[in-house]
Amino acid sequence: VNDISTSELAHKYFYEYYPDEKLPLFTNPCDDDILMNLWNGNRSMCEIFPKFIIIGPQKTGTTALHNMLSQHPDLYPSKKNSLTYEELQFFSNETIYLNGITWYLNQFHTNEQSINFEKSATYFDSILAMKRIKALLPSVHLIIMLTEPGHRAYSRYQHEIARINQTINFDDLLKSNHDENSYYFHLKQRCLQPGHYAEHILKWLKYFPSKQIYIVDGEAFRHDPRIILNDIQLSFLQLKNFINSSNLVRYNKKKGFFCSFSAKHNFQCLGNSKGRRYENMSSYSREYLNNYYLFHNQKLIKLLRYYNYSLPLWLIFSNPIKL
Ligand code: A3P
Repeated sequence: VNDISTSELAHKYFYEYYPDEKLPLFTNPCDDDILMNLWNGNRSMCEIFPKFIIIGPQKTGTTALHNMLSQHPDLYPSKKNSLTYEELQFFSNETIYLNGITWYLNQFHTNEQSINFEKSATYFDSILAMKRIKALLPSVHLIIMLTEPGHRAYSRYQHEIARINQTINFDDLLKSNHDENSYYFHLKQRCLQPGHYAEHILKWLKYFPSKQIYIVDGEAFRHDPRIILNDIQLSFLQLKNFINSSNLVRYNKKKGFFCSFSAKHNFQCLGNSKGRRYENMSSYSREYLNNYYLFHNQKLIKLLRYYNYSLPLWLIFSNPIKL
């Protein structure tokens, strides 16, 4: 050890012995006096950390839930970020995470009474996000939204073709068997893989107890979010200041969805990229997805039952097995 310089030692440590430790893992300075002394923050900042996070997955109604909860006077979403738009993606993104804890805290409001939260739908299927959230925010509450996974896959596909402004047939995408480096392979993955709900939820449950994880039936939410918004306030977040959600949201005929509503701002519906109108998928795609997700959905039924969650209605109806 005497003959080796500090940088050589560091190189040996990170490159030869412990390559997994090259990336930092931030723990919470508020839970540790030594860290608190080293940190450039102070104890008053501890209250700023979010109390709950909507973790996804994408295309299940997470933006609508985020906006509707933001209507509550005590609930403050993270500030809009020019890098990632409405989502921080702090825990799932390699570069953003390296901005550190103080950067993360700066993305939230500092009002004394506010209950801060964020939504980043990229967290749901990210192992990095699971580990990092657990390390920094072990007692945070998490909300997961689940829609019928075939429906979610099709919505993700519609999102992509609107974004790149070209048509790739959905049937062809599902049939395709491109190599792992191709754009189509990745697109198909992004459509199908987050819908392996049981697999991802099981991993979250290794890090967090089920009482910290609330699961929303995304189809029921789209149809009428009011009961769900009330339940989140009362039974999950146990807010002191309960606001009946009939005062926060209303059905908007033109949009065809429930939208945030207040006497001051009237309706605030989501933009054109949320709640798109498109043709139903073909019977080929429907059957492909029914078969594809059969096993995953059966696993989900077992998992939800084991952890005493109620089953989303779409899961009961889409599964031809004995319940
Ligand atoms: P589509 O645009 O395919 O219909 P996310 O915000 O997680 O990306 O989810 C987008 C999906 O949210 C939309 O997919 C839409 O179906 C669904 N959604 C649920 N409630 C909604 C609402 N009140 N307004 C708009 N979209 C809503």
